Amino acid sequence: MLVATRTLTTAAKQIARSSSVLGSIRTKHTVPDLDYDYNELEPVISAKIMKLHHDKHHATYVANLNVAEEKFLAAQAKNDIAGQVALYSAINFNGGGHVNHTIFWKNLIGEKNGGGQLHEGALKQKIIEQYGSLDQLTQVVNGKTAGIFGSGWGWLTLNPKGQLDVITTANQDMPSSVGHVPLLGVDAWEHAYYLDYNNVKVDYFKNIWRVINWKDVAKRYDDAVAQIKN
Ligand SMILES: [Fe+2]
Repeated sequence: MLVATRTLTTAAKQIARSSSVLGSIRTKHTVPDLDYDYNELEPVISAKIMKLHHDKHHATYVANLNVAEEKFLAAQAKNDIAGQVALYSAINFNGGGHVNHTIFWKNLIGEKNGGGQLHEGALKQKIIEQYGSLDQLTQVVNGKTAGIFGSGWGWLTLNPKGQLDVITTANQDMPSSVGHVPLLGVDAWEHAYYLDYNNVKVDYFKNIWRVINWKDVAKRYDDAVAQIKN
């Protein structure tokens, strides 16, 4: 059991713990509605991609997460340790897919509604202090994100030292798996851009900054800093 527990990643532990606490009264995960229309992000991201990405891809992560959690609870009820361990990767992957996409939708907003505009405040100040300018930060994020082998995410995070950081995670791994708080995620899976950009993903990375909801990112930064101080 000790060995098995050590193999748990942070995400699986969190999800397993919440499943255990909620037990039979746990509610199923659901896909959150978008705060905007499917065509909000055009021409940077088409309505076609948004509809597929949100309604199909995200929905599949949620459906698979619910199934895996049900199976986990059933294995737990039977004290079936091997059965629980066998579900960790499915819970991690689909739980990460759910959490990461939930952040991603909030990180985005149309250009006409303020997309791409970083206003004065603590986050802007910190970006300038660490990276010199927003432009230079975007180059760091784009460079690292373009270097992902296979599928994954590029992230602006607050690291455990309270500094901004740019990291990538593979597949649906979450920044919390390495102790970082996610502020802004860039979905680098092919499903996020291929219908619009084909194989030219660097154009997707370049354009996505036009539809970043910096108000949301700044709020996440303020919240994360406050949490560190407490
Ligand atoms: Fe995605």
